[in-house]
This record gives sequence, C-alpha cells and structure tokens, in this order.
Amino acid sequence: MHKIDFELIEMTMDVMKYAIDRISHTKQKVGKPQKAEVLKSLVGETITNHGIGGEKAFQLWKEHLAKANVPVDHPRNLAFVPAAPTRAAVMFDLVTSVSSIHGAYWMEGAGGIFCENEAMKWIVSLTGLPEGAFGVFTSGGTAANLSAIVTAREHWREDDTYKREKGLIITSSGAHSSIKAMAKVADVDILLVDSEEKLTGVALRETIDNLNFHQRKRLFAVVATGGTTNAGIIDDLEGIAEVCDNERIWFHVDAAYGGGALVADSVRHLFNGIERADSITIDPHKWMFSPYDCGAVIYRRPEFAKKAHSQQGSYLDIFKDEGAHGFNPTDYQIQLTRRVRGLPLWFSLATHGTDKYKEAVERGIELAQIAGKMIEDNPNVELVREPSLSCVLYRRKGWIPEDYTNWTYDNHDKGFALVTPTKWKNGDTFETVSRFCFINPDTTEEDIKMILDTMA
Ligand SMILES: Cc1ncc(COP(=O)(O)O)c(C=O)c1O
Repeated sequence: MHKIDFELIEMTMDVMKYAIDRISHTKQKVGKPQKAEVLKSLVGETITNHGIGGEKAFQLWKEHLAKANVPVDHPRNLAFVPAAPTRAAVMFDLVTSVSSIHGAYWMEGAGGIFCENEAMKWIVSLTGLPEGAFGVFTSGGTAANLSAIVTAREHWREDDTYKREKGLIITSSGAHSSIKAMAKVADVDILLVDSEEKLTGVALRETIDNLNFHQRKRLFAVVATGGTTNAGIIDDLEGIAEVCDNERIWFHVDAAYGGGALVADSVRHLFNGIERADSITIDPHKWMFSPYDCGAVIYRRPEFAKKAHSQQGSYLDIFKDEGAHGFNPTDYQIQLTRRVRGLPLWFSLATHGTDKYKEAVERGIELAQIAGKMIEDNPNVELVREPSLSCVLYRRKGWIPEDYTNWTYDNHDKGFALVTPTKWKNGDTFETVSRFCFINPDTTEEDIKMILDTMA
C-alpha cells in the first residue's frame, strides 16, 4: 500500500485531473442524494479482501457517488448556510493533505501552525479585541462554541463557591441549535430568552432580574449571536456586554455565520460591542471562503482556555520541552490531533489579500439587498422582514407549508437550485416561509430572478 510504482503515478495524475476539472468547472449541477440501497446497487461491494483497485473505485466515485452530493458552492445553492471556498483555498487543501502535518503541537507542525496563526491574527484584528487576544481553528462552529462554553465554565468553577454547582447560561431562542446541543454536552442548563429578533441588553437585564437566588448563583455565561442562522440578525452586543460586565459573567458571541461580515465596512457598526466579548466563534468555512472543515474560537484571555483544555500525559511531556516551544493549538480547544485546517485560509489570504475578502463579503450583502428589491417588485411574493446580512426571508403569497416543500424538491430534482424553507415566528404561531442565504459571490441577479420565477 505504501510503495511507489507506475500505477501510483497514473492514479495521482487522474486525481489531479479530477481536482483541476472540479476547481475550474462553473456549470456543475445541484446533485441529488439517493437512498443508500440505490447507491449500493449502483456501485456493488467496494470493500473486499483484495480491493477492487483504485481505478475502479475512482470510476464508481465519479460515475455514481460524486453525483449524489449537493455542491455547497453552487451559485444557486442558497440553503442553510452554504459555502464558496476560494479556488486558492481548495488547492491548498490538497497541499495540506499531502503534507501530513500534525497540527496539535508546534514541535511537529511549526510551519503549518505559523501560517494558521498569521491568518488568525487577521481574524482577531477584525474583532477589535485587545492585545493578547488570540484563537485557534476548530472543526467548525459547534466545536468552537463547545470549547468556549467549557473554558467559561472551568474559569467560573475556579472559585470554590461554584465548585459543586451546575452552571447556567442564557441565550435567545434565535441562537443556533449548537448552543443548546453543546450546553447538553457540557452539562450546563440553558435559559432561552424567547425572541428570534435581536436580543437586547434590556431583555437580558430583565431575564437576569427575574432569576431566583440559586439560578443567579449558577449563571456563568451569556451567549449572544452575531448573525442568526435563520435571519442574519445581530444581537445588541454593546448592551449585552454592559450587562455581562456589571454582572461579571462570561460574554460569548457566536458569530459562526456572521463573523465574516466583520470585514465589511457597510455593516461593521452592527457588531459594535463584540470587542468586549470574552470569547467569539467565527467559521471561516462559512463566510471566509475556506473549505470544510474550518471554524475558529477566539479568546480575550487565551490563558483561561489553556487551563481548561490543555491535555496532560507522560507521552505528551516532550511537547512542552525546550525546542518544542511555540504555540500549541491543542491547548485551546477540545481536540488533540488535528489537521492544520487554517492552512488553506492562510494561502488564500496570502494569495488574494484581505481587500478581496471585503469585496466578496460585501457582494453577499448586496445580493441580499438586490433580492429584497426583486421580491418587493414581484406581485407573487413579499418580504417577511428586511434582509439582514446576507439572509432574506420572504413568503409566496397564498402558499401553505406543503407548497414550499414541493417547490424545494421540484427545483432540487431538476438539478436547478437548492432553496429550502424555514419557519418564522409570527405572534404566537410559526409561519413557513422561504429563505435565501447568500455566500457565493458568483451568484448572479439572473440566478435570483430565475429562482423567483419558479414560484410564479
Ligand atoms: C450561528 C451559528 N452557530 C453555529 C453553527 C454551527 O457551526 P458548524 O456547523 O460549523 O458546527 C452555525 C451553523 O450554521 C451557525 O450558523
């Protein structure tokens, strides 16, 4: 398996050709998932005692399996939070793989970690956090949120008063599902302020004032959102920071999706207050055009994260020795062995410069405004709320939930577009509506028009 022969060289060329085709292809279809039984019947048994050979396996991949995936970078994939990695970043993802770098400790991965840290310095600079703040790349927003919550809890529990208490965090119902899921993993309770609109400092103040004595004792963190997944809403970060300061509780900002917009002059002011956070999540694999998987967690005081996450073991002592001195990413998040997943971002930033990132993010915001205007001018549809960041919520007049589902499947089946419905709270009820989330700067006005036309 590890020898070098003619077959290996040929296979390498085939894989490179595939990569070049994929990187330069602009007209791919929105792929279609198939049931596992169908895929099995198409490809047969692939794992056998003697192997089916790379050529055959690759051919099955190209012919059947690749087509069962939906490319997240398709310009008419506007579902969930899509992605649009730059071609430079994708190329360097290949380099990251072939370089076989262990990204946990400086001793093994100094070159790669150096590059990651250069990219990280830029991200930290966007937040306005003070000198000393720093972060690491994680597998995504979920892992970043978990790493931050655990850091906050461990810091809180350093005080003996709280040693035996189960922690409590406050967030809003607009927060991403991963906050609730990660609170479960960290075994902390969560209290939701019931609002999908902007969480304000006033609402937070009221919520805290209504806690009973024991709840207040257990409260150690507040999670605000810098760009909700559903609607792109940015909480009142300044007001929330003020309350957290006064109450001496940890202030985490989940900007997994919206964090990319920190680079955009047109909306930067909406994030004012983020510089007062104790920790921040930003996903480069969302709006910083990195390939999966690349999240980031940033700390105002990284030493608290190091206390919480640094792993101990006799086999690890060597990494802390002289000569291994340097930044060890494993110390600041939940994972030990890790890919240097910030490396593709570094290469793309170094290649293009940060101005291009600004332009590409501004384009996503502009596309949301353009879509909003088209919706206002179209008699069949109407805006549910003003576009925010790159999210647009709109309704097709007269449609019931099944209509949205059928419409989504119809466009998907045709390989034309992936636009999925969501729900928006209207008074006491939830209304099913349609949602665009723009990330890809290659999405055109014509794409939006064509999608809206299919709702006629
Ligand atoms: C605001 C927010 N936080 C967290 C996440 C989770 O990130 P990931 O899917 O990278 O784990 C998302 C994903 O869409 C998100 O939008």
